[in-house]
Amino acid sequence: MEIVNAAFFDHFMDPRNVGVLEDPDGKGKGGDPSCGDWLVIMIKVREEVISDIRFQCRGCSAAIATSSVTTELAKGKSVAEAREITAEEIEKGVGGLPEEKKHCSLLGVTALNAALDDYLYGKGKKKA
Ligand code: FES
Repeated sequence: MEIVNAAFFDHFMDPRNVGVLEDPDGKGKGGDPSCGDWLVIMIKVREEVISDIRFQCRGCSAAIATSSVTTELAKGKSVAEAREITAEEIEKGVGGLPEEKKHCSLLGVTALNAALDDYLYGKGKKKA
């Protein structure tokens, strides 16, 4: 696989929002059993807006770059707006992916939606 574009390398070499959020309002995981890569996303929500977000990823370079883009796309969006983020948008954020790496952008969608579910139906709901 060869991915040669500035956006991809920027997000891979300097991924945004890496780390852990203490006491997150929502936390979700996405993974792909075929390659073993996984992603955890943690969110803070204030007045239904994602005010902070972090991720931890064990995965390929495309998984890391697309995870970084996912967090940038989600931060500042409402919970409802974040639900609309697609794998295609995430892929566009890294300047495109070769066919065999397109599944990497699904980790972000899966983990983000799991974190939003956790917020809506779990801890975040109890705080309301
Ligand atoms: S190879 Fe599976 S997420 Fe990248």
